[in-house]
Amino acid sequence: MSALPGTRILIGIGAGIAAYKIAQLARLLKQAGCEVRVVMTEGAQAFIAPMTFQALTGENVRTSLLDPEAEAGMGHIELARWADRLIIAPATADLMARLAHGMADDLLTTLCLASRAEKFLAPAMNQAMWAHPATARNARQLAEDGWQLLGPGHGDQACGDVGAGRMLEPEALAERLLSPRELPARGLRLVITAGPTREAIDPVRYLSNHSSGKMGYALAARAVALGADVVLISGPVALATPAGVTRIDVESASEMLAAAEAHADGADIFIGCAAVADYRAASAAEHKLKKGDDGSGMTLALVRNPDIIATIAARADRPFVIGFAAETRDLERYGRDKLTRKRLDMVVANDVSSAGLGFGADDNAAMLLWQRGDTIDQRHLPPQPKTCLADAILEQALHCLSCASPE
Ligand code: PMT
Repeated sequence: MSALPGTRILIGIGAGIAAYKIAQLARLLKQAGCEVRVVMTEGAQAFIAPMTFQALTGENVRTSLLDPEAEAGMGHIELARWADRLIIAPATADLMARLAHGMADDLLTTLCLASRAEKFLAPAMNQAMWAHPATARNARQLAEDGWQLLGPGHGDQACGDVGAGRMLEPEALAERLLSPRELPARGLRLVITAGPTREAIDPVRYLSNHSSGKMGYALAARAVALGADVVLISGPVALATPAGVTRIDVESASEMLAAAEAHADGADIFIGCAAVADYRAASAAEHKLKKGDDGSGMTLALVRNPDIIATIAARADRPFVIGFAAETRDLERYGRDKLTRKRLDMVVANDVSSAGLGFGADDNAAMLLWQRGDTIDQRHLPPQPKTCLADAILEQALHCLSCASPE
């Protein structure tokens, strides 16, 4: 187990039966040379006594926000700032829900809001509670907020059930907490397009599609978390800009192309996640189009929009170019076709006809296809939250880049 001596680790213990295992975690972290402090929720103290952790860490254990004596020693904001890494274990469903909502109604949740430490969660709960959509929603939110979820594992549970929800063993948690912080995308510049484009027909009408921007924004947020410098070129969406991301707002495909070309200079990776309208009105009317009185129809002349990703891939100084393929059938065939026809390095082919996936959904699934010499490799990514899919896409892209770059 690699150690980071002197790393300051704050352990927050929740009210779960696995709380007793945290004594072993504290011991392992101390043995590895870390400074360890412990905060317990009120419920956690029903499972194991604070005295145990005081003996193991040599530090007072904090249990209450409104404790004048403890605050006089190291105030809670100071404690939040003290930590390099913070882990909540066991993280109960209730604790996850409160954290996902940004609550600060006890010492532990207050510390989590106040701390800039790298944050980990080790969920532990009954399998049905873990599988509940509310918990899944909270887990997604927490991952989006930058929490790293460790587990849960699968197996026998204290209540007699079998399934996913067991806290990972202290040894596995210690291994993650002791591993050096990995920022594999540090120093890389990424340009990502996201959301739909809007192609004006007249001042009040436009052509567009159902893209919400969630997939592209998830990629941007995760790329920043991996250390990358990210420019996000976004069509009109109702999403907040992820922390640390430079966002450029555009409306039409032509505007998106101009922004993409301007920011592709010196970029290492370009990801075209935007659902760009393939056509626009041949000429957008200056004034609102009026209906005729005779009840007749209307013909709208369309012209092709520029292909943004193909334009970037055709540059002499091209970055590693990743395109998406939104398909309703034959994912692999159409994905391969886009990979070669648009001269891309990787394609994320997603089936946009599956319920609960693709356009507008929180989850997505994909087939990754990438060029390796003369062959095309592929990897299937099953349905999962878009943030997790983003991690898998970035991981594969970084792997391809590292294989391609000279030693
Ligand atoms: O935004 P969400 O609601 O989260 O939904 C995500 C998504 C379904 C929009 C996303 O996962 C996705 O599939 N994005 C690409 C949608 C699309 O336009 O696919 P396409 O198969 O038509 O285009 C292929 C590739 O060419 C894409 O990388 C696209 O960005 C690019 N393209 C297309 C047309 C064009 N004129 N210029 C382009 O650059």
